[in-house]
Amino acid sequence: MPRVITSSHEIQQTTLQLRASGKRIGLVPTMGALHEGHLSLVRAAKRECDVAIATIFVNPTQFGPREDFSKYPRTLENDLALLDSANCDLVFAPRPEEIYPPGFSTYIEPPAVAQPLEGVFRPDHFRGVCTVVLKLFNLVPSDIAYFGRKDYQQSLVIRHMARDLNLPIEINVCPIIREADGLALSSRNRYLSTDERQQSLALSVALNNATKAFAAGERTAAILSASMQETLQSAGIERIDYATVVDADTLEEMGQIQRPTVALIACYVGTTRLIDNVELSDK
Ligand code: PAJ
Repeated sequence: MPRVITSSHEIQQTTLQLRASGKRIGLVPTMGALHEGHLSLVRAAKRECDVAIATIFVNPTQFGPREDFSKYPRTLENDLALLDSANCDLVFAPRPEEIYPPGFSTYIEPPAVAQPLEGVFRPDHFRGVCTVVLKLFNLVPSDIAYFGRKDYQQSLVIRHMARDLNLPIEINVCPIIREADGLALSSRNRYLSTDERQQSLALSVALNNATKAFAAGERTAAILSASMQETLQSAGIERIDYATVVDADTLEEMGQIQRPTVALIACYVGTTRLIDNVELSDK
């Protein structure tokens, strides 16, 4: 089993010592309830660095008041076994007071790219994400931090924060890991009933259809977006936060697609909010 550290002071000292001894450190921040998507990040860290450190922390400040913070799955023993199987070297799994001690009051104002999409539907989400990620970068000062493209906007937000604040860390964004039938792996998939699991296929089907239409020459963003919405609706998905095609770097809307583009979906299957995306490119 990987060594588990719960104290902020201890993880910071341990990481600084590893770095002083010349080790390259790869950091994988997670909220636990781990699956193959998370493990793919650990494997990338192991390939490219000497030491892989995963963090497991269900960050309260990134959940809205009506979101699933208290019921978010906490599966530490299983997580540690999975991290062991991926040869993770060290795990930082702090208690909330360790990260947010009494009197904590400093937050990061997220970059502009945090404002559309998730920023509209989860207003303080990226403030909480940026704050905890910057704290993790400080507590586990690493050479490279690994994030998944599954959370496309989050990866842009973190890249922009790192650039804007001159953070001395490289950000690597890794591909989305999917089930054989196309559903993107997510800790929240375990909330789905059998029927909902079936319904949830509509997200990857909608994105695949958009990819095919784009490959066939469709360049009107509104047509691609409308077709994704239709696919979701015909699967019985009623609550769609967004299903849209936007600029891949700025997330701004566009009429005709002329630049790298990403199709993004956030919708509710039953009471579970799922997100997925695909990049549309001429390559
Ligand atoms: P969490 O949802 O646990 O995800 C941790 C990392 O795993 C994120 O970078 C996410 O994009 C990546 N990931 C999740 N599912 C994936 C999949 N199917 N394929 C590839 N990568 C996947 O994202 C967070 O936690 C939090 O916001 C965090 C960054 C840890 C800050 O609290």
